[in-house]
Amino acid sequence: MKIGIFDSGIGGLSTLHQAMITLPEVDYCFYADTDHVPYGERTVEEIRGFVDHAVGFLVDKGCEAICLACNTATSAAITMVRQKYGIPVIGIEPAVKPAIAHCKDKRVLVIATPVTAKEPKLHNLVMKYDYDHKVDIVPMPGLVRLAQDGIFTGDKVLNYIHKAFADLNLSDYSELVLGCTHFNYFKDTFAKIFPDDVEIIDGNLGVAKNLRNTIINTGLITEEELKGRGSVTYYYSDRKIEDKDELEYIKALHQRLELMLKL
Ligand code: DGL
Repeated sequence: MKIGIFDSGIGGLSTLHQAMITLPEVDYCFYADTDHVPYGERTVEEIRGFVDHAVGFLVDKGCEAICLACNTATSAAITMVRQKYGIPVIGIEPAVKPAIAHCKDKRVLVIATPVTAKEPKLHNLVMKYDYDHKVDIVPMPGLVRLAQDGIFTGDKVLNYIHKAFADLNLSDYSELVLGCTHFNYFKDTFAKIFPDDVEIIDGNLGVAKNLRNTIINTGLITEEELKGRGSVTYYYSDRKIEDKDELEYIKALHQRLELMLKL
């Protein structure tokens, strides 16, 4: 069976990477909407239009379930996508609940795109679990641009992060919630600048497990398919990636994500 994994850009590769480990038996179509990235500084209406187009494209390619590997798209468009397409749609949202459960006497920092940071979805989630007002939210759109430019370490990254955190005392936090899939590429830098015991939480494992359970429980995958091994086809917006150099670059991104998983 085919599953469509969607993001505005390369952030969703971190979700695909985990899905290929947790659910290696299916065929994935990975769609990065590189014509319109970054989403995090656009209007909700614009984002809904782009997500609708991309999901329609993936359904036409034969995808029977969709994963929105983008917190911004989930926040702005998941309800619309579920209603319109009537197939299983798994979204990703900042892992606020486990972060609050783990933080003891310290605080939780959620970093996200400006859209995710201001949309009601995140605020409702925080309101539901943050009884002691321990959660702070900081938008970091610059990291999405740096990731898309292939800049994951070095002065530009450090300067941007230090500026965004200028008003915070980093030793107040025991939990850093990555509320944008692009931020997975910067885990090593975050680990360096926060105190040693900080826990960096992303939602990818939860999403991958959810995807596996959903397709098994809804009978979308056959017993036979569960014994096999799947494949991945990559798209930049509606264009299938066949260029050797581009596929090599994606391979290098997977290698970086593998390193980040081991931190
Ligand atoms: N990777 C996306 C997310 O998880 C959004 C990045 C963007 O396009 O601004 O929110």
